[in-house]
Amino acid sequence: MKIFITRPIPQIGIKLLKDKGYEVTVNEGAKDREATKEEIVTALRQAQSESKAFDALLSILTEKIDAEIMDAGLPTLKIIANYAVGFDNIDLVAAKERKIMVTNTPGVLTDTVAEHTFSLMLSIAHRIPEADKFTRAGLYKAWGPELLLGTDVSKKTLGIVGLGRIGTRVAYHTVKGFQMKVLYNDTKRNEEFEKEYNAVYYQNLDNMLPYCDFVSIHVPLLDSTHHLFNEDRFKKMKPTAYLINTSRGPIVDETALALSLSKGLIKGAAIDVFENEPNVNPDLLKLDNIILTPHIASATEETRNKMAELAAQNIIEALEGHIPPNIIE
Ligand code: GLV
Ligand code: GLV
Repeated sequence: MKIFITRPIPQIGIKLLKDKGYEVTVNEGAKDREATKEEIVTALRQAQSESKAFDALLSILTEKIDAEIMDAGLPTLKIIANYAVGFDNIDLVAAKERKIMVTNTPGVLTDTVAEHTFSLMLSIAHRIPEADKFTRAGLYKAWGPELLLGTDVSKKTLGIVGLGRIGTRVAYHTVKGFQMKVLYNDTKRNEEFEKEYNAVYYQNLDNMLPYCDFVSIHVPLLDSTHHLFNEDRFKKMKPTAYLINTSRGPIVDETALALSLSKGLIKGAAIDVFENEPNVNPDLLKLDNIILTPHIASATEETRNKMAELAAQNIIEALEGHIPPNIIE
């Protein structure tokens, strides 16, 4: 069996595949940059012409895996294992038509993303990056009763948008650790969750937003969630509220976010994802009341290793004729 990996991933995953006797090709050139579509298509086609066609493709979340890429891998390509929990980068309809399985890496990154979400929440509320900049700039001349005042997180109200694994884990930290009140919006109600966390369900996001001190987004990117946060939604939030986004960039209209932050419609934001990654909207860069991290919410050594293992396991199961554990239907 032959596997193509579009960018270097932690060795532990590659080793699992090699231990199975599979031939693994890693696109080493794309270590610190994105792999281009042309590069992927060319690699798949070339392998076909040399009769070394690939059976599996391990892809990265920034790569748009479309019909053209899939066709370049046919007839041998059986599985696309995405190195991410999100899979909005893969054309699932095209994959289904071609009978190619698609898998993701859920579960193993839940704690890490929830930690990052919570770090962002604490950091924006306590103005950590601003304070660090201030200190390094030599501006700390005197302790001040009103120097760099932040906002408490404890006992405040958090609105969770999207109650999947990650949203639920964020609720765990906020309720059990910080005694926050949790409201949530999702397409489905979860009464067990409500009981355990004393949480309140809002079927309608607009009705929830006016009560939140913090809003954290955990929905997948779909047509229905594109620009879910736009100027109208920011207007419904408290002027003292903070927005946290560790899901997907296009769920937030960045132009509206920049405007809302500068006009004071909301107090601050902390985001790990952007509308046009890796580009960052220059209007956001000018603001002090936003924290920007470069899509690293799952980036710990432990978790990236586990994601590599899980992606490899999905490939192995598929190529051994089983249904892989994380197949996306
Ligand atoms: C990261 O964004 C992921 O979807 O795993
Ligand atoms: C992702 O794993 C989620 O369900 O939130």
